[in-house]
Amino acid sequence: MAEKRSFTDASVKGRRVLVRVDFNVPQRPDGSVADDRRIVEALPTLKHLEAAGAKTVLLSHLGRPDGKRDPKYTLRPVVHRLSALLGQPVPLADDIVGIHAIEGVTRLQNGGFLMLENLRFHPGEEANDPAFAAQLARLGDVFVEEAFGTLHRAHASTVGVPHRLPAYAGFLVQKEVRALSPLVHGAERPYAALLGGAKVADKLPLLASFLGRVDSLLLGGAIAFPFLAADGAQLGATQVEPGLGEAVAEFRTAALAAGTDLVVPTDLVFERTEGAEGEVGPANLLPDTARAYDIGPATRARFGEVLRGSKTVFWNGPLGFAEDPRFAAGTREVLAGLASVPGFHVCAGGDSARVAEALGVVGAFQYVSTGGGAALEFVQGTELPGLAAIPDA
Ligand code: ADP
Ligand code: 3PG
Ligand code: MG
Repeated sequence: MAEKRSFTDASVKGRRVLVRVDFNVPQRPDGSVADDRRIVEALPTLKHLEAAGAKTVLLSHLGRPDGKRDPKYTLRPVVHRLSALLGQPVPLADDIVGIHAIEGVTRLQNGGFLMLENLRFHPGEEANDPAFAAQLARLGDVFVEEAFGTLHRAHASTVGVPHRLPAYAGFLVQKEVRALSPLVHGAERPYAALLGGAKVADKLPLLASFLGRVDSLLLGGAIAFPFLAADGAQLGATQVEPGLGEAVAEFRTAALAAGTDLVVPTDLVFERTEGAEGEVGPANLLPDTARAYDIGPATRARFGEVLRGSKTVFWNGPLGFAEDPRFAAGTREVLAGLASVPGFHVCAGGDSARVAEALGVVGAFQYVSTGGGAALEFVQGTELPGLAAIPDA
């Protein structure tokens, strides 16, 4: 992967610099920031701009408010944490491209910051509407792409704006590309992808390019259930994403043709009634009232065996509903085992990194990416629209 043009090559003193960041962070029920990794990782670029005397305007989305203003998705808690980390108050312009934003930018001092409200409050962001992109671009003289986690989205702020301004990559984007590039072509084999999580329908189509690229694909979490169901497993009252039968069958055929070993759970941990203690049962036959939420001990052992034989491991998605202590053991044990395996292990995904840290097993990874879907696509060699929009160095 070619290096991207760095923002340190741009002259920024006294100029308005639009920085696209991915501050789509996990939040607590009261909205406060539950994990600030994505903010902390952008700080070196922001501090550099501050020291260089730039007038920095920050752009981000948060959640999926679908083009409508929704107080649940305000960036206010994010700006609060950012101000503390930067050591200077960062005002929030609540109208994105309206008069408050324009006035806020005009008031900016050299070395100062302004953040615009959630870009996805405006329908033009996800639609990559040219008029909206032009309005955003008018707020700046230079564009810096720092939102690695959003590079797989072709939106106004990730594609429309960099096409309208001199565009550069920030330190985080450069670091992620450098760290993950070895997985695109030069991954040491055997190479295993360990996948779980909850965004099942979202992710299944994103896994196709792993076939042939990895030696083993280990499936845990909710993403394993449609595979088990396709084999005729009786999973009781477990929530299985519907309508994926055909996609699973095609995926299986493709895996066979590509020579990639698909490993699905043989046992699961379930609750018989809501709140009951976790029980272990075979993955092909659970009691009628069972709801499965984790992989069982035999599956953990099998995953461990494959991982011990692998030199490269890419992990995205908790292997069970790990926020609940009854269903955290699968993820914890598999990752704890990985910690003693030599090799290059990558953790990708907002929830994955947070869960690994909470379970005390983040040390199993040589690299933790801020990208979830973006990292998943990048390591499979897919061109990311937000990256393609930045000129090479
Ligand atoms: P990431 O943000 O790392 O890309 P996802 O958003 O796809 O990962 O999924 C994260 C969530 O999936 C976690 O909060 C995890 O607890 C949950 N999860 C995994 N398996 C299950 C399951 N069987 N049922 C409910 N949630 C699950
Ligand atoms: C992520 O968390 O993966 C990115 O911020 C992108 O969010 P999205 O899946 O809502 O586009
Ligand atoms: Mg997530």
